[in-house]
Amino acid sequence: MATAIALLFVTFQLISSFGLPRLDYLHLSHIFEGFDDAPSNQIPISSLPLDEESSKDASRYLLGVGKADITGPVVEINMMGYADPDQVGTGLRQRLYSRAFIVGNIDKPEDRFAYLVLDTQSGDTAVRHGILQGLSALGGSYKLYKQTNVAVTGTHSHSGPGAWLNYLLPQITSRGFDKQSYQAIVDGALLSIQRAHESLTPGSLSVGVIDVEDANVNRSPYAYLANPEKERARYRDTVDKTMTMLKFQATESGKNLGVLTWFPVHGTSMLGNNTLITGDNKGVAADLLEKDLRKLENVDDNFVAGFSQANVGDTSPNVLGAYCEDGSGEQCNFEDSTCGGRNEPCHGRGPFFRQKDQGASSCYEIGRRQYVAAKSLYQSISTTGVPVNGPSVKSLHTFQDFSVLNFTHPNGSLVSTCPAALGYSFAAGTTDGPGAFDFKQNNTGSPDANPVWSVVSGFLRNPSAEQNACHQPKPILLDVGEIQNPYLWTPNIVDVQLLRVGQLVIIVSPGEATTMAGRRWREALHESAADLSLTGSVEPIVVLGGPANSYTHYIATEEEYGIQRYEGASTLYGPHTLNAHISLTTRHLPYLADDSTKAPDAGPPPPIYTNKSLSFIRGVIYDRPPFFKSFGDVLSDVNAIYRSGDTVEAAFVGANPRNDLRLEDTYVAVEQYIDHVWTRVRDDSDWDLIFRWKRTSTVLGTSEAKVEWELGEDVKGGKYRIRYWGASKTPVTGSIVQFEGKSGTFTVR
Ligand SMILES: *[C@@H]1O[C@H](CO)[C@@H](O)[C@H](O)[C@H]1NC(C)=O
Ligand SMILES: *[C@@H]1O[C@H](CO)[C@@H](O)[C@H](O)[C@H]1NC(C)=O
Ligand SMILES: *[C@@H]1O[C@H](CO)[C@@H](O)[C@H](O)[C@H]1NC(C)=O
Ligand SMILES: *[C@@H]1O[C@H](CO)[C@@H](O)[C@H](O)[C@H]1NC(C)=O
Ligand SMILES: *[C@@H]1O[C@H](CO)[C@@H](O)[C@H](O)[C@H]1NC(C)=O
Repeated sequence: MATAIALLFVTFQLISSFGLPRLDYLHLSHIFEGFDDAPSNQIPISSLPLDEESSKDASRYLLGVGKADITGPVVEINMMGYADPDQVGTGLRQRLYSRAFIVGNIDKPEDRFAYLVLDTQSGDTAVRHGILQGLSALGGSYKLYKQTNVAVTGTHSHSGPGAWLNYLLPQITSRGFDKQSYQAIVDGALLSIQRAHESLTPGSLSVGVIDVEDANVNRSPYAYLANPEKERARYRDTVDKTMTMLKFQATESGKNLGVLTWFPVHGTSMLGNNTLITGDNKGVAADLLEKDLRKLENVDDNFVAGFSQANVGDTSPNVLGAYCEDGSGEQCNFEDSTCGGRNEPCHGRGPFFRQKDQGASSCYEIGRRQYVAAKSLYQSISTTGVPVNGPSVKSLHTFQDFSVLNFTHPNGSLVSTCPAALGYSFAAGTTDGPGAFDFKQNNTGSPDANPVWSVVSGFLRNPSAEQNACHQPKPILLDVGEIQNPYLWTPNIVDVQLLRVGQLVIIVSPGEATTMAGRRWREALHESAADLSLTGSVEPIVVLGGPANSYTHYIATEEEYGIQRYEGASTLYGPHTLNAHISLTTRHLPYLADDSTKAPDAGPPPPIYTNKSLSFIRGVIYDRPPFFKSFGDVLSDVNAIYRSGDTVEAAFVGANPRNDLRLEDTYVAVEQYIDHVWTRVRDDSDWDLIFRWKRTSTVLGTSEAKVEWELGEDVKGGKYRIRYWGASKTPVTGSIVQFEGKSGTFTVR
């Protein structure tokens, strides 16, 4: 499949002079009235009054990157994202990681920030709390990382384990909270920060952009069309196609340390019926770019590629459009994405819709397209990008109670946000995963009833007249922000956070901003930054990353909110949610000024529920091998010979993978016999190697581990074998015993 990636072989200087309308965040146009084309009053980079020496100094920062494993329980845990209680992990296609990027002021070590990209559905209040506690416990220079300067973003993958989130709502489908799932993320995130911290070295940063033409579409165009025509006319596309990259390069060694990119596309390439753990399309992109670039001479061995999520709200990776999978083959209803009045049959199609394993192949392809774009940008950034300039590294963070916030609407009237609530369309889902919210069914009497739902459904309340009025025109389905029993269902206390290095300002968004919401938010900050001369004579560049720090569902524009599709129905704090975020961040922006020594109030701390969350998730009881067999024995062996396009398969006597997450390690591997030595050539990080696990008898405690290696075209001929590592839980004593298995050898021709 040919990819059409339009490289923007222009510098920011050119953009400034010609004012390309697509690069919206580079413009100084007014947000709320008159969406006229941007005035061309930007200052070209090259006109900076910097001599060579000071320019070199100005672009020197303290830089560090680090990556660590956060793969939680890969089986028997509900997966996070589609909110389908039946989507439970059965194995692993790709390990999950936290990627940490630290930027510091070389002369003021306390001025620094850590930006984390986690292969998770989102950031989270409890996860962030755990990371900050861990940093404080590490002590010493780790005390420099704190509430204000640590940003915990998720890639929005929908194919990782769940049960780690702070608030009740997402815990319902996962049968509650799981400490192991939570701790894997916190510990790995901490380790990634430690690695980044230990690698800190003087270096320079550059920023560049590229268009990725065929990796995202708008899944709610009907809502997007509600935005003013004049505003829409300024953009070629109904989603942002721009990928922005921040490149990290060490000064002394000259080596490239890593890249951090922002591009909006939902992590829903893996479908709602997938049960293998993966990092979805951004996990693929990161793995491909890291493995590719690490081979190069001028690239650090520990090069880290972060593919951070952006204004993802109404984007979809299902680029072929949404169709009725009911045999009719028709496109879904434009206004509400239904087929014959039902939303279940409507599903977006990925690029490889017609292939057998359409979810995985489309996921790989959408990941590959981001990787290809990122690689060309990486290669061209020294000529097409701009250096990050100015020594300032600044950050701010405050907690804001969004259930009671009064502020001035851009039109001058006083408006407020409301306690969180979800509208009816929330239950309908989207074309990426329609109608999965089965927990609203009144099934408490049935044997497979959701135990959490049985406990909490009685706490649901009818919204007050005031709450209904506040959320108008949203019809309230779940009045989540007003239910304190047994604890809060969704956040009311929301993270407000901004980071800045030189002319780059990063909005750390706690929710999924839609395309137009993200554009307005970035543009408002761009305008404020310019008004304040925040970045001196250098053109500010504003990016938005998230969902981060918490999960506040969606942030739609007021006009999209009026349409009440999924994104509007999931905009928690009412029609003025976006404007509240814009108002708060623009108000706090002066704290990021070069000479600012002040910070906003810390705000009210959010509740942390890790110790009081409901949990109906059972631990592992015990494992036993079948009679006359041992753990790790081969149950079905490989064939003697394979060719590219084949799938190598082997099955072993297994044990529950939850006994040992094998973090920073692997469950399965492929070894090649090279020069008389068995050498590992594939592990859990590789997309083409799959680990599946199945309990064959709960009573006997037996289980089977199956390994599949999908041979691509690039596989080298030779002699190979498969390996599997497990840990069993001994009946009665509960002790955990490690074991391993090996397949027979096979030849790839
Ligand atoms: C998963 O869903 C897709 C799309 O509805 C379908 O084509 C595929 O066959 C399903 N896979 C399984 C294993 O049921
Ligand atoms: C917000 O405004 C309303 C209506 O004017 C008022 O009742 C309320 O006390 C205000 N809340 C805050 C936090 O200022
Ligand atoms: C300003 O916007 C608010 C919220 O959309 C609306 O209720 C109000 O009528 C508007 N006021 C003016 C003067 O346009
Ligand atoms: C839910 O189920 C209970 C018990 O079967 C029944 O009494 C109640 O009327 C049902 N509620 C709704 C809204 O269907
Ligand atoms: C949860 O309990 C542990 C152990 O008692 C304690 O160390 C931790 O601080 C508690 N966490 C919170 C958020 O209260």
